[in-house]
Amino acid sequence: MSPRVCVRGVTVRFGGLIAVNDVGFEAAAGEIIGLIGPNGAGKTTLFSTLVGLVRPAAGSISLDGARIEGRKPHVIARAGMTKTFQNTALFPGMSLLDNVMTAAVVREDLKSARRTAEACLERVGLRKAALANVADLTFPQKALAELARALAVKPRVLLLDEVMAALTPAEMDEVMATMRSLRDEDGMTLLVVEHHMRAIMRLCERILVLNFGRLIADGPPSCVSADPDVIRAYLGQDHAHHA
Ligand SMILES: Nc1ncnc2c1ncn2[C@@H]1O[C@H](COP(=O)(O)OP(=O)(O)OP(=O)(O)O)[C@@H](O)[C@H]1O
Ligand SMILES: [Mg+2]
Repeated sequence: MSPRVCVRGVTVRFGGLIAVNDVGFEAAAGEIIGLIGPNGAGKTTLFSTLVGLVRPAAGSISLDGARIEGRKPHVIARAGMTKTFQNTALFPGMSLLDNVMTAAVVREDLKSARRTAEACLERVGLRKAALANVADLTFPQKALAELARALAVKPRVLLLDEVMAALTPAEMDEVMATMRSLRDEDGMTLLVVEHHMRAIMRLCERILVLNFGRLIADGPPSCVSADPDVIRAYLGQDHAHHA
């Protein structure tokens, strides 16, 4: 069986800058994988490339065996992979429900999109805020709304870019429980970018580390957090102790 996601030799250039440099990894169905690394390492760019927002200069990306690199975002979303936005990209002036529906219509007609959107809001605990204007949502609610919007395309692979950044520890626990249920009940594959190391170490059974666009480690949290290269590049002594 082919892996759910297969990335080989992916390189992304912005002019003279190599933001992602010859990155390769595989992800199986039902894996929760962390993607960490310092600011500017290329995490968001790699996610954007996976979902078709950025075109790679080289390399291949497969989803359940089908090549998708360079395809349009809505094509890749329909094929089953989508991402959240690091700084939420909700449409201002629209209700939360309408925002989530705009994602669901990628796959469905309006009527079933509404049901999907309601179910996704329920899933992230925002059902009561469905008719609120997104401008009136709190920071954590916006993060959950971003998650609901990604879920509305019913992905098999979900890429989460710092959705927990604005959350309190208790809210983080709730979001992590939701992430685990997406894996356990829906068999989803999750790739999770977070700077919050304790959360990543608890949530993920495997961690990828990017540094200056290169993948410098790929393994279980215990190995990655003890890796001298990773400690030097990102974690530092402090993080290694608390991880
Ligand atoms: N659209 C763009 N045009 C030009 N350069 C870009 C673009 N997007 C990202 N970059 C550059 O590519 C590199 C990787 O950026 P990226 O946003 O992927 O990093 P990141 O790992 O997500 O960082 P952070 O942890 O701060 O979110 C950085 O040097 C950044 O300045
Ligand atoms: Mg980023």
